[in-house]
Amino acid sequence: MPRIFTLSDLHVDFPANMDYMLSLPDIKYKSDVLIVAGDISDSMDHLRTILSSLTRKFHTVTFVPGNHELWVRRKSAADSIAKFHTIIDLCEELNVQTRPFAVGEADRRVWITPLFSWYRTDETDPDTLFIPKAGEDLENSPWTDNYLCRWPAQINTSRRVADYFLQINRQHIYQSYDAPLITFSHFLTRRELIFGNLDMARQYANGRETIPRYPQDPVPEFNFSRVAGCAQIDHQLRQIGAKVHIYGHQHRNRNRLIDGVHYLSKCLGYNRERSMLGKTVQPQLVWHDGIFLPPAEEL
Ligand SMILES: [Fe+2]
Repeated sequence: MPRIFTLSDLHVDFPANMDYMLSLPDIKYKSDVLIVAGDISDSMDHLRTILSSLTRKFHTVTFVPGNHELWVRRKSAADSIAKFHTIIDLCEELNVQTRPFAVGEADRRVWITPLFSWYRTDETDPDTLFIPKAGEDLENSPWTDNYLCRWPAQINTSRRVADYFLQINRQHIYQSYDAPLITFSHFLTRRELIFGNLDMARQYANGRETIPRYPQDPVPEFNFSRVAGCAQIDHQLRQIGAKVHIYGHQHRNRNRLIDGVHYLSKCLGYNRERSMLGKTVQPQLVWHDGIFLPPAEEL
């Protein structure tokens, strides 16, 4: 019976991350599934190298592009939407799943449904995860997507970009699923997932309206909540009936039960983040023998 693992935000442009991913064992995961919730690399060569390697190490690999994949450098694609479709074609060529599929048999069967997504930055958008933050300065924001993502003329707002990907997901909502379901997206789906502290997460779930300025904030001009995600993804995963939703993007590992859905994030992230945690990272076991792991903390 296959096991299901996840690891996202591989960022293999960093040699330590590339070395780690290529050094994953060749035999240990041969019968298993790996869910990669985006941000492997913006380089098509690195994407091909990693996805090819993972398909040799795991029985099945499933992937959604993150924001880094949609960076367009030196005319590497006509625009970010064209690059997205080139990546989906690459996945098809390498037998990486980007559509719903089931694994396991009988009462040990489970579905996995990838959800494409983008974040909604507009503070007036009802589906944004934006929370006003003291000190945010849009003119001086270091957010690289603002410089390296290029959108076609007709998809020129974050709301339209997000809607473009939500529209692709709609075909999966009314499909019949005959077993429990795991969905995954790159971006966050709820404000309360942004916060590591449970009390604070509860406050923002209950409508707290601003993020204060903390003296230890290294980048006060940047407001992550503006680029965190989109509440419509949460609507879609609940329409589909997900029991577990896996996501990436923030590089903050979470494991929470919110209104009956288990949210899990396990990121390889950057070397400096791993050394701050003082931990080595392994692919996270999500499902084994009909059981979802690890048990979540309830919000
Ligand atoms: Fe990301």
